[in-house]
Amino acid sequence: MWSRAVFVLVHVVLGVVAQYDVTNCPVEDATFELVTGWMYSSPQDILETRAGTLQLAECIEACKSNQSCLAVNFETGLCVLFKSQVKDRTDTLIKSQFPVFTMYAQKQCIPSARSCTRAWGFELVRGYYIRNGVKKQMQLPSRMACMDACIQERTFPCRSAWWDVVKSECVMSDLDRYSLDNAGRFAPLANVEYMESQCVDEPSKMCEFKRIENKLLKTVDSLHEGVASVEECRQLCSDAPFRCHTFDFEGVCRLSHHSTVTVSQVEEPYLVMNGSVSYERGSCYNVTLDCQANHLIARLSTNKIFNGKVYARHRPNSCVLDVKQAMTFEMVMDYSDPGCGIKQEEPGRFATDLVLQHHDQIMTSADMGFALRCSFHLENRSVAHGIELQVTGQIQSMASESAVVPSPNVSMRITDRVS
Ligand SMILES: *[C@@H]1O[C@H](CO)[C@@H](O)[C@H](O)[C@H]1NC(C)=O
Ligand SMILES: *[C@@H]1O[C@H](CO)[C@@H](O)[C@H](O)[C@H]1NC(C)=O
Ligand SMILES: *[C@@H]1O[C@H](CO)[C@@H](O)[C@H](O)[C@H]1NC(C)=O
Ligand SMILES: *[C@@H]1O[C@H](CO)[C@@H](O)[C@H](O)[C@H]1NC(C)=O
Ligand SMILES: *[C@@H]1O[C@H](CO)[C@@H](O)[C@H](O)[C@H]1NC(C)=O
Repeated sequence: MWSRAVFVLVHVVLGVVAQYDVTNCPVEDATFELVTGWMYSSPQDILETRAGTLQLAECIEACKSNQSCLAVNFETGLCVLFKSQVKDRTDTLIKSQFPVFTMYAQKQCIPSARSCTRAWGFELVRGYYIRNGVKKQMQLPSRMACMDACIQERTFPCRSAWWDVVKSECVMSDLDRYSLDNAGRFAPLANVEYMESQCVDEPSKMCEFKRIENKLLKTVDSLHEGVASVEECRQLCSDAPFRCHTFDFEGVCRLSHHSTVTVSQVEEPYLVMNGSVSYERGSCYNVTLDCQANHLIARLSTNKIFNGKVYARHRPNSCVLDVKQAMTFEMVMDYSDPGCGIKQEEPGRFATDLVLQHHDQIMTSADMGFALRCSFHLENRSVAHGIELQVTGQIQSMASESAVVPSPNVSMRITDRVS
């Protein structure tokens, strides 16, 4: 009886290990997790050193396609492949952040990563979590199972997960370091491993970028030559095989998934260079327009917690939605509501512009405008000239469009100083 119990226990443990066994992983299940500011030190296990590798994705791909390769060290221009990786022997990972920081990436075998099109699956930060960020938590057999569950989560976008080593507990969150409105919520916590997903789907089209003057990241994920303009470089950032958050263009175009908040643990991550500019991605928006018979619904989602308001450009006071701490929100506007003043450009074609304002009182250059249009087929209705159209339920919506427009120009002036 006793030996049978032991047998069952051993069997279960082996089963768990085999599922995520990285040494015997089909190429399509292999993904990588990245650790920034550290490098693997195990000279006897070096498979290959590739000088001149300008893309982290290329370095990782070289490791992914070779069964013997289990990890890489990368800094812009240097890719080192290893046949072993850090397990629990964390002493083989050494801090590498000055004069340029290094990234370490290790292979993991996560079956659901097949669905992930990004060059690597996760970024790992030891000893951190997001305060008040719990969306779902569960007991799981391993950290790999936790990553697997995060990729497979369908009820919310799993942007990060942290693994409690002691409790074997997996906590999933719809927030990550980029989405926090207060960086202090990313906080130290003993015995947890924070894992940020690269696989999450997020809006990447309508994005705002802010300028960071006189600073360039010391290490980037990719470097592209022969790029003609800042615009072209920004486009490469939008199309990158990773979640690109920073780019710069000083003759060459350089991209990184890092931003000010994610390199905060690295010592001097930026090179200070007079006259240079880095562009850092802020909020991105996804707008979907639902044209109903007598009203339209603008549904907005973003990748960063939004605080502020949304209003009709020409009715900032009477057609406004206040938003507190949300990442998805919707604005409903009646075509006939004078408070919203939706224009009928021609029969059956309704138009309005929305403005997203990040601050309750002050407009900033980060504010965004969206042009919304709803058009309806009206051939089979008699529309008398000069009479306001009443659109009712039977009419089919033909097309809905949304586009980014410049937000109203910012003008501020101090009128009086209270002394
Ligand atoms: C993996 O890379 C090493 C070093 O470049 C090479 O010797 C080996 O043949 C490669 N293995 C496969 C399966 O490609
Ligand atoms: C944008 O939102 C729509 C509807 O909410 C969704 O179907 C679509 O996948 C989203 N796109 C992105 C890139 O998030
Ligand atoms: C930076 O450049 C500007 C204009 O080119 C110059 O006035 C300024 O002194 C420079 N600052 C430093 C610290 O070199
Ligand atoms: C208008 O009515 C005709 C006949 O009833 C129908 O065939 C046609 O599809 C209708 N057009 C639209 C746009 O609904
Ligand atoms: C905003 O300012 C820019 C440049 O100063 C100008 O070209 C544009 O016409 C202005 N837009 C509006 C709506 O006033």
